[in-house]
Amino acid sequence: MKILVLHGPNLNLLGTREPEIYGSETLADIDRKLLDLGRELGAEVVSFQSNHEGVLIDRIHQARTEDVAGLIINPGGLTHTSVALRDAISAVGLPAVEVHLSNVHAREEFRSHSYIAPVALGQICGFGSASYVLGLRGLLGKLKA
Ligand code: DQA
Repeated sequence: MKILVLHGPNLNLLGTREPEIYGSETLADIDRKLLDLGRELGAEVVSFQSNHEGVLIDRIHQARTEDVAGLIINPGGLTHTSVALRDAISAVGLPAVEVHLSNVHAREEFRSHSYIAPVALGQICGFGSASYVLGLRGLLGKLKA
């Protein structure tokens, strides 16, 4: 079973980006963790990061032709702004889990609104890289059920 993990804008800077909020792990650290967990649970995990909304949308469209079973997505700041990203997720009809490192509901008010959450199976936030791990476990649990 193939799972696509999408990381949005600025997540390439993890490790040095506001570590008091986002922790000190790099994106490569997180991707390795997900790859290992996927192997353990019988899933092939493919990760992709872009700082560009349209590139993320194209990657979601491409997933349709690749036998992808579901998405884990941390849309970064696009969470709070992007109708187009939300539409791409609902257009392909793939089950998606929205994840965030930080607790978006305990920060600035603009972060508590997500355009993505209504088209996701669920949202996990506030657990650092464990948000991704929990998201992957939850998604695989749903897909195998
Ligand atoms: C984030 C939260 C967003 O509000 C922010 O714009 C990010 C990272 C998180 O993982 O905590 O870029 O998605």
